[in-house]
Amino acid sequence: MAMKTEILTLLRESGDYISGQELCNRFGVSRTAVWKVMKQLKEEGYIIEAVQNKGYRMTENPDVFSTSELKSRIRNRWAGRELYFYGETGSTNTDAKRLGEEGASHGTVVAADMQTAGRGRRGRTWESPAGRDIYFTILLRPEFAPDKAAGLTLVMALAVALAVEDKCGVEAGIKWPNDVVVNGKKICGILTEMTVETDYIQHVVTGVGINVNMDSIPEEIRESATSLFLESGKKTARAELLQAVLERFEEYYGKYAADLGMDSMLEEYNAHLVNRNRQVRVLDPKGEWEGVAKGINASGELLVENSAGRTVEVYAGEVSVRGLYGYV
Ligand code: BTN
Repeated sequence: MAMKTEILTLLRESGDYISGQELCNRFGVSRTAVWKVMKQLKEEGYIIEAVQNKGYRMTENPDVFSTSELKSRIRNRWAGRELYFYGETGSTNTDAKRLGEEGASHGTVVAADMQTAGRGRRGRTWESPAGRDIYFTILLRPEFAPDKAAGLTLVMALAVALAVEDKCGVEAGIKWPNDVVVNGKKICGILTEMTVETDYIQHVVTGVGINVNMDSIPEEIRESATSLFLESGKKTARAELLQAVLERFEEYYGKYAADLGMDSMLEEYNAHLVNRNRQVRVLDPKGEWEGVAKGINASGELLVENSAGRTVEVYAGEVSVRGLYGYV
C-alpha cells in the first residue's frame, strides 16, 4: 500500500492524534515527507488538524472520492482488490470490458467521479456529473453458464439495497430486476453486460450508478428518480458506501456461485422487492401483458400471476416490468 493510503487508514482508524514522529518511524521517512503527505490530503478535501506535541488528527469524514480513499477502505478478498479510479472517463462499463480483454482479475473495480458517456439500459444515456454520485463497474469471471449471468444483476441490487440501509439509514427496496428505490423512487440503476465465447462466459461487467449526494433532480425525471441525500437529508461519503456495497456483493456472489441461484437469499430479496403483490405490466417483446408480481424464484425469475390465475416465470434477461400506477 502506498504511504498516503496507509496514513489515511491510520488517521481514520485511530480517530485520535497520531504523532508525526511515530509516522516517521513507521515509514522510515523525514518529518517533511510526512508533512507533505498531510498537505496533499488537505488539498484533496480531508480536514486534518495538526497540534504541536500531539500530532495529526482527522476530524471529519468528508466525501473524498479518490484512489487513495478507496484503497484505504476496501478490505475484501477479491471485490475491488484490483482498483482503477478515474476523475473522468467515458463509461466505467467500457473501461471494465477493455480490462477484461486485457486479462484483469475477477473482482477488478473501475470507479469514476464523472462519466462523459455513461450508458443506461435500452440504449439510454446515464447522466453522470462530477462530484456527487457513484459510478462503478465490477469485472467478473464466473465459472457458470451464460444463462446464470442475469442473476448477477439481482445479487448486485440486493448488495446495494443492504449497503444503503446500513450506511444511509433509509429503507431501500428493489424494483426487479435492475433498480434500487427509496420511497418509491429510483436511486440506483444497474447495467450488466456479458462477453460470451461459444457457450462459456468470457467475462461479465456489472455497472452501477447510484444517486448519492445530488441535491436536485432534473425536472424530466423528478417523478421517478431521487437521491440518497434528498431522501435521508444527509450527505454520504461515497467511498464508504462503495466499500459497503462491494463487501456485501462479495459475500452474496459467493452464495450465488455456490448454489447456482438465489436459494440462500430468496427471503431477503423478496422482503426487499417493491413489486411484490403489485400490478405489473410485463414488457415481453413477444407481447406485453399484465399481472400481479408475487416474488422471485431461485433462478431470479419474477413470478407473475396472470389474469387466468396462472403463475408465469419472467426471465430477467429478456423482459422488464413496469408498474401500472407510477414507476414502481
Ligand atoms: C439503468 O438503470 O439504465 C442502468 C444504469 C447504469 C449506469 C452505470 S454508471 C456506471 C456504469 N457505467 C455506465 O456507463 N453505466 C453503468
